[in-house]
This record gives sequence, structure tokens and C-alpha cells, in this order.
Amino acid sequence: MLGKNLKPFDRIKEGITFDDVLLIPKRSSVESRKNISTKSILSRNIELNIPIVSANMDTVTESAMAIAMARLGGIGIVHRFLSIEQQVREIVRVKRSESILIEKPITISPDRSLEEAKELMAQYGIGGIVVIDENSRVVGIITTRDIKFEERDQLLVKDVMTKDVITAPEGTSIYEAKEILKANKIEKLPIVDEFGKLKGLITAKDIVKREEYPEACKDSKGRLRVGAAIGVKGDYFERAEALIQVDCDVLVIDIAHGHSDLAIKAASKIKEKFSKVEVIAGNVATPQGVKDLIDAGVDAVKVGVGSGSICITRIVTGAGVPQLTAILNCAKIAHEYNIPIIADGGIRNSGDITKALAAGASSVMIGSLLAGTDESPGITIIRPDGRYKMSRGMASLAAAIDRKIREKGLEEIDESELLEYVPEGVEAMVPYKGKTTEVIAKLVGGLRSGMSYCGASTIRELQEKAEFILISEASIRENLPHDVKLLY
Ligand code: XMP
Repeated sequence: MLGKNLKPFDRIKEGITFDDVLLIPKRSSVESRKNISTKSILSRNIELNIPIVSANMDTVTESAMAIAMARLGGIGIVHRFLSIEQQVREIVRVKRSESILIEKPITISPDRSLEEAKELMAQYGIGGIVVIDENSRVVGIITTRDIKFEERDQLLVKDVMTKDVITAPEGTSIYEAKEILKANKIEKLPIVDEFGKLKGLITAKDIVKREEYPEACKDSKGRLRVGAAIGVKGDYFERAEALIQVDCDVLVIDIAHGHSDLAIKAASKIKEKFSKVEVIAGNVATPQGVKDLIDAGVDAVKVGVGSGSICITRIVTGAGVPQLTAILNCAKIAHEYNIPIIADGGIRNSGDITKALAAGASSVMIGSLLAGTDESPGITIIRPDGRYKMSRGMASLAAAIDRKIREKGLEEIDESELLEYVPEGVEAMVPYKGKTTEVIAKLVGGLRSGMSYCGASTIRELQEKAEFILISEASIRENLPHDVKLLY
């Protein structure tokens, strides 16, 4: 039967993406790339020193990546395909990785076993634990140095710990703390009140990190910022509560089709209950999608449907919007409401970052480009032609199988359920790339140059001055090295 109200398709919209355009070079007064600021915002109240966010994918962001990204001035969003406890643990690892003063340090009682102390150190990735008595008074400290060659795990903490702990009073400044650590050649300085009760901890590692990463993205307590993804069904609300409890800086409501009643409802419910937490929602690809999420109260919107390197959404469903058009259209309305957008998916090089920001995005989310680094989860695959790491779509079959195993256990998996699953992502490998720091340095370097070509020294200026030129297939060939034989 034919529908009566057929829509007239006399004017089909046009869509373009990064490779369809170039940025027209403009007169530049920038004398050095160092004078270019890459500061931006992630969401209403979170500033970034570099406009790069690592994607909430299980082959990209857990705590190691989030720590690396925040140290460099960006941020990482820990994926949601973990149990609530595991995801919370990842967030805690980031929040504890460095701070001015660790307010609630991990502690242990002198009567616990060495085995338990070792477990705590491994669980939280720390090199020492303050030992306190039943009245919270500091009675010792146990560090990796105390236990290095001690294999008798049944020994008690009190038998192994260092008893003469050097402490400092509340109110000790970071500079005073540094002097005390230096003078006593120690790594950890418990802060105590007048009764000797533990009030916090300052560590040499945190001080060094502060100096090493001056551009780090930090909260008001000097802790690295981190985000976490949540869904819109099942345990999502409980998950949000648990993440907020451990001071996760931003929640990302992340579903493939973010312009949906479910996402809108989830966003308003979370903002209603926890008005202070920053909420990002997505993914959408249209101005109406952005507006509906902004009306629901979100603090940023993630834009990109089917643009990711591992996505097959557009092939499987026929739906999507070419990414540059999606950014241009979405940024226009988001800017009217003063809400930032995050361009998510399809970034292949620093040029794409410049284009996405020039088109109005405040930051870019990156998946596969970071999946090959040391800090991404997963092992390195060694093949005759080189080293690789995995990058897989969160809607790929392999990711779906892993999720089911986690939820139900291997034995309970119903094969027919998996046969019915329609993947919208693929499993892939990306070349191993070494440290995240090096990858990000290249991307930010390219972005700075791109900004300079546009005559811009800030991202706002880039957005005001940028002018795109639509290019032909022949121009795309001209963009690439041509008429030469590449050495590598
Ligand atoms: P890049 O290009 O940086 O893209 O690797 C990362 C983004 O891709 C999205 N994503 C998916 N999209 N099916 C999709 O259609 C999937 O299975 C899938 N997994 C990830 C996501 O937005 C991510 O940030």
C-alpha cells in the first residue's frame, strides 16, 4: 500500500565532510606557534587546554588513557561497558592519580596482613599506604620500599611498616611540603591535626607531576578531570549516582541515536536530580537534535552519526549526516544557546581537527587515532608486518558478545540472541603508535599550524575567521603526496 502523504523530495539536502573542503589561508600575525592558544571548553563549566577528548570506547579509554589525556590538557571519557564497580574504580584511579592534597588517602590498620597491604597497593596503583590506628591517628607508613624483598605475606603491617613517620600540620602549603619531602628524602607526607589524626596526604609524585604537566586539566582540588559514559536504560541511573559519588567530573549519556526520547528523558532526569554535575549527551547530527538535548538541560552535545572509523551505521541503516555538515549545522544552533558541541568521529589527522573546530566545534572526540597507543586498553598484536592494537566499534559483534559474557556469564549466553544482533560497527586493528603524549603532540602541533594558516591565535578567532573552500576529486589527489615514490 502506498502512503498518502509522501514527502516531496524535490530538494535533497547536500552534505560534505572533511575531505571535501580546505581552509583558505589568511594573513597571519602569529609569530610563533607557541603564541597560539588551544584553550577551549568541553562543556558549560569544564575548560580544556587542548580541545581533544579520548573516546568512550573499550579499546580507547580506561584510567590509563584518561590520566594521559588530562595531563596533556584534554580529557578522557571512560567507556561504560564495565560493571558499575569497575567503572567507578577506573574513575577513582584517575582522581587519585594526582592532586594537591589527597583528602581521603587509602589507609590500613597495623593489624592487617602484608598480603592485604600489597593487594590495596595493586588495586589503587599506589606505592605506599598510611597506617592508622582505630582513632585515625597515624602510626606508620608502609611503602613498596618496605616490602620489596619481603615474601612472608602473612606478616602484619605493624611488623614491616616504617614507624617514625614524618608528618606536617594542616594548612601546610605545597611549597612547604616540597621542602619537607626534599629535606627528609621521603615520598609521602601525611597531614595531621593537633591530635595526630590523618587529614590528608601530599606526595612527591603529585608535586613532580604538577611541574611536569603545567597544562593539565584539573578540578578545583588539583585532581585530574575525567568523564564517564552512561547509557539510557537498565542501571544507568544507579551508575550515574555511583560515578557522581566518586567526583567524576562529567557524565556522557552516550547512545548511537542520541536524538531519542530515551536520551532526552535520561538527560533531564539526571540534571533534575544532580543539577551540579556536567552532562553531555549524544550522538546527534541535526540542529533539532541539538536543541532537544539542550532543552533537556545538557551542558554539551556530542555530534556525529556514522562518521567514526569503525562505524558501519550508514551502510547498515542508510542513516547519517556527513560529518562536516553535521558540525556546521549543529554548531550554529548550539552557539545560539551558548552550549559547546563535541565533534565525534572521523578525525584522521590534525587537519581534520582544525576543520572541525573551524566549523564550530569546541572540541573533538577521537577513537581509533588513539587506540594504537600504550595507554589504550588491550594487548599489542605482533604480526610479521608490524605491531598493532585493536580498535572496535562499540556496536560491533565482538563488543556485543563481550557485553553479554560480562552480564550473564559465558554459559548463559543465548546464541540465537547473538545471531539476531545487527552490528553497526566493525572490529579492526590500528598500527601501534607508542605513547599518547607523542600522538597528541603531533595533533596539537598540526592544529596550531592550521590555526596560524587561518590567521587565528585562539579557537574563537579560528571560528570567526575561517573560510572553507569546496574542492574537487582532483584537488583531493593534489592534497596527497603525488608523482613521487614514497620511501615508507
Ligand atoms: P573515530 O573515527 O575517532 O570515531 O575512531 C570514534 C567514534 O565512533 C563512534 N563509534 C561507533 N559508531 N558504530 C558506530 O556507528 C560503532 O560500533 C561505534 N563505536 C564507536 C563513537 O562516537 C566514537 O567516539
